[in-house]
Amino acid sequence: MRLDSWFLGLYGPDGYLDETSSLAYYFLMNVDELRAKYIEFFKSKNHVQIQGKSLLPDNDPTVLFTTAGMHPLVPYLLGEAHPEGKRLVDYQKCIRTGDIDAVGDSSHLTFFEMLGNWSLGDYFKEEAIRMSFEFLTSSQWLGIPLEKIGVTVFEGDETVPRDEESAAIWKQLGIPAGQIQYRPRSDNWWGPAGATGPCGPDSEMFINMGKEACGPDCGPGCSCGKWLEIWNDVFMQYNKNAAGDYEPLARTCVDTGMGIERTVAILNGKNSVYDTEIFMPVIQAVEQSAGYAYHTDPNKDISVRIICDHVRAATVILGDPKGVSPSNLGAGYVLRRLIRRAVRHGRKLGIQGPMLSPIAQVIIAQLSGPYPELEDHRTYIIEELDKEEGKFLETLLKGEHEFEKLLPNLLKDPRRVMSGRLAFKLYDTYGFPIELTEELAKEGGLRINRQEFDEAFKKHQELSRAGSAQLFKGGLGDQGETAVKYHTATHLVHQALRRVLGNHVAQKGSNITAERMRFDFSHGAPMSEDEISQVQSLVNRQIERDLKVTMEVMSLDNALASGAVALFGEKYESQVKVYTIGDFSKEVCGGPHVERTGGMGIFRIQKEQSSSAGVRRIRAVLE
Ligand code: ALA
Repeated sequence: MRLDSWFLGLYGPDGYLDETSSLAYYFLMNVDELRAKYIEFFKSKNHVQIQGKSLLPDNDPTVLFTTAGMHPLVPYLLGEAHPEGKRLVDYQKCIRTGDIDAVGDSSHLTFFEMLGNWSLGDYFKEEAIRMSFEFLTSSQWLGIPLEKIGVTVFEGDETVPRDEESAAIWKQLGIPAGQIQYRPRSDNWWGPAGATGPCGPDSEMFINMGKEACGPDCGPGCSCGKWLEIWNDVFMQYNKNAAGDYEPLARTCVDTGMGIERTVAILNGKNSVYDTEIFMPVIQAVEQSAGYAYHTDPNKDISVRIICDHVRAATVILGDPKGVSPSNLGAGYVLRRLIRRAVRHGRKLGIQGPMLSPIAQVIIAQLSGPYPELEDHRTYIIEELDKEEGKFLETLLKGEHEFEKLLPNLLKDPRRVMSGRLAFKLYDTYGFPIELTEELAKEGGLRINRQEFDEAFKKHQELSRAGSAQLFKGGLGDQGETAVKYHTATHLVHQALRRVLGNHVAQKGSNITAERMRFDFSHGAPMSEDEISQVQSLVNRQIERDLKVTMEVMSLDNALASGAVALFGEKYESQVKVYTIGDFSKEVCGGPHVERTGGMGIFRIQKEQSSSAGVRRIRAVLE
């Protein structure tokens, strides 16, 4: 931002000096400007802009959602060549559900956008930091004065030395020594989360919000709110192996991430992401539905923020080209939980009937510039939201009805206590939230044995957590050998289905775990036993032939012209990788794949069933 705009920035949009800002200045930087500037800056540094990917990771059984900009790039960070080269930049939709219960405060979000730039074996610390510094401080870009910027670097521990190199680079660029802090692994280390994979120390950048320091040790990295983080440069120089050791990587990479919503808030001198132009129109839509004015009751404000965040996340999940709907499993379950929690908080604001779709309409209008898929899926988004909201409102009615039936008996208890077991049954059987049972109980002059409920609930959670622990692990993808074999099998089965059933067959989705693969494809009728067995033998024949798998990089147009299959609805770069399996299959795909098909095992289809209208699903194993 140029100096004159900063000066203008001292004044609010209404032309008056903005006295609510704790900064001595603030920038009029909106979200679209920030996204555009970031991309433009890195393009000017020879980076190629790549397409952000789906929110639902491909063939990665370890996570439900894309959690960071680097996630779709894991194979390339692990050593694969990227078709667009070694310097990349993009913006990426991300969902993090780990902190879902913290949403409602000023900063936590489940859905957010991340800007990132990558070096795949190209530049490392020196150039990465210099570029970050230039983008932050140059008057041509963000123009933030040096005295407002603080950084942290890794302080070192018994396995990895202190990152003196990064500290020296920052110092040389002019960041005062007092604004460079060394921090431990818990703060300045990125990836992998529990698994194996590339990782390394990081250097984080903060803006001084102008508040009083909280004590003598307060500095960048302190969580008191004086220093807010806007960017993270990760220096991937190690591979954490299965024994838990850090081996130096032969090819070092840089992965950076800048959370857009947070950065816009900070650049505009706001302490809360909800006080930015990103959220204000959404808040207004909630205010209208609820007939409540934001910033009048702190408790109700929490509900407003939860509704804004959850409806936004649900809208982008529903709008993803991969297509998810609310369910009791995996990503569909998270979606259901987001929608229901939003409805529940709507009731806290006094909204009784449906309220989600007008809010979602505002969100679609706001986000479909960078994510046109939201406009494309508008009808589906609204229909699914309405459907799930309707179902939940019914659940609530049913729960209320059940409660009323229980009430006369409950009132016979002289202590006027409802057992936690019974409250849990309402939750477990009807999905009736405990807060609502408590509310109704209170209205009827009863108290709930909350301890008993909590115990029952905890037991239930432990059971379901054990089941989904794998999925919530987070972090880097599991690119294990078995997953790679299944990935190649996906291509074989895709082609075999086209040969046996016809070329109308198109892949609609796939999911791989270490135990099996699932493959969804368009086809109007159930497969006959004969067709299943033909597909199975065709795949097995290609495995026996020990076909060589080769990869070529070419333009998407050339790939399609050469007969390669590409997935409809998927976004591709202009340069793509095409994997060819002998004379059998040719598909546009990011990889990785086996080198030869021999040794993949014996392919067996376990189940063929309907997935949705016009879509069949195969479950298969390699034995
Ligand atoms: N992957 C890094 C992060 O998400 C940049 O912070």
